[in-house]
Amino acid sequence: MEPGRLTPVEETSLLTVYARALDFDRPHPILGDEVARRVVDQVDYDFAGLGVLGSTERFVALRAKMLDDRIGAFVARHPDAVIVDLGAGLSSAASRVGPPSTVDWYSVDLPRVIALRNAVLQERASSHCIAASLADGRWVEAIPSGRPTFVVADGLFAFLTESSFRAVVDGIAEHFHSGVLAFYDYGRVSRLSRLPGRLPSKKRMARLLADAWAFDGFTDPRHLEGWNPRLRLIEDASALHEPEIAAFPSTWRMAARMSRRMPAIARKARVLMYAFGDADL
Ligand SMILES: C[S@@+](CC[C@H](N)C(=O)[O-])C[C@H]1O[C@@H](n2cnc3c(N)ncnc32)[C@H](O)[C@@H]1O
Repeated sequence: MEPGRLTPVEETSLLTVYARALDFDRPHPILGDEVARRVVDQVDYDFAGLGVLGSTERFVALRAKMLDDRIGAFVARHPDAVIVDLGAGLSSAASRVGPPSTVDWYSVDLPRVIALRNAVLQERASSHCIAASLADGRWVEAIPSGRPTFVVADGLFAFLTESSFRAVVDGIAEHFHSGVLAFYDYGRVSRLSRLPGRLPSKKRMARLLADAWAFDGFTDPRHLEGWNPRLRLIEDASALHEPEIAAFPSTWRMAARMSRRMPAIARKARVLMYAFGDADL
C-alpha cells in the first residue's frame, strides 16, 4: 500500500507506528503492539530511512503504554465512555486497550492520514474515524457530548500552533459535559533547540520533526487551566519515573535518576491529565 504524498506533519504518523513496530520486534517489548507491526508491513515506505533512534522507539512505546493504562482505567469505571483519539494517525490503541463494545472510539486525523488508516487498519465495530483538521473547530460536532469522555492525544499538540491548540482545548471543554483530556508533553521546547534538526546531515526523523513542530510548549502544567477555567490538572506523570526506564540505555537511566531532583528533566517526557465538567470521574 503506497502512503501517497504526505506533508511532514502527516508523515509523523508513520514514524510513531514504526517505533511501536520496532518495540514489538524486541524480545522484551514495552508495549507489544502486534498490530503496529502488521500496519508497517503493509505500507510501502522507507521506514528504515527514518533513522529512528532506540530511545525514540522506547519512549514512543512507553508513552503509549502510559496513555493506554489511563484509558483502560477510565473505561473500567465508565463502560458507556466515549474515547476520542486526536491526531490518531495509524495508532491501534483501541485494539491494545480492548474496550467493551459499549464504548465508542473516535479517531480524528487529517483526511490523507485517515484514508491510509482505513486502508491498513481493521477497526472494531464501535470505532469511528473523523477526517478533519483540528484547526477547524467543526471536528467535534460528530461526537456525542453527554457521555463520560476520555480525550487522548499521543504526540499531537507539538504539531499544532498555540492558537489551534487553545481552540482544541476550548472545543473539548465546551462540547463535552464531563471527562478527561490526557496527552504526552515535552515541556518547553524552544525554537532554537529545534534548529539542529534542520541540518542536512540529520536523519529523516529529525528533519521531519523539525519541519512539523509548531509549538514552543510550556513549563507549568497549570498553564492550560489559565486557557480554560473548566480544566483542572489531575495528573503530571513523568515517563522517566516509570519502571520501564530500567531497560533504557544507560544515559536515560542516569537522566531518570537526576530527574528525581531536577524537575526540568522530568517534565521533558510527561503525561498530563486534566478533568473537565462536573461529573464524578
Ligand atoms: C506523531 S503523529 C502521532 C500519531 C498517533 N497519535 C500515534 O501515536 O501514532 C501526529 C499525528 O497528528 C496528526 N495531526 C497533526 N496536525 C493535525 C491537525 N491539524 N488535525 C488533525 N490531525 C493532525 C498528524 O497527521 C499525525 O497523524
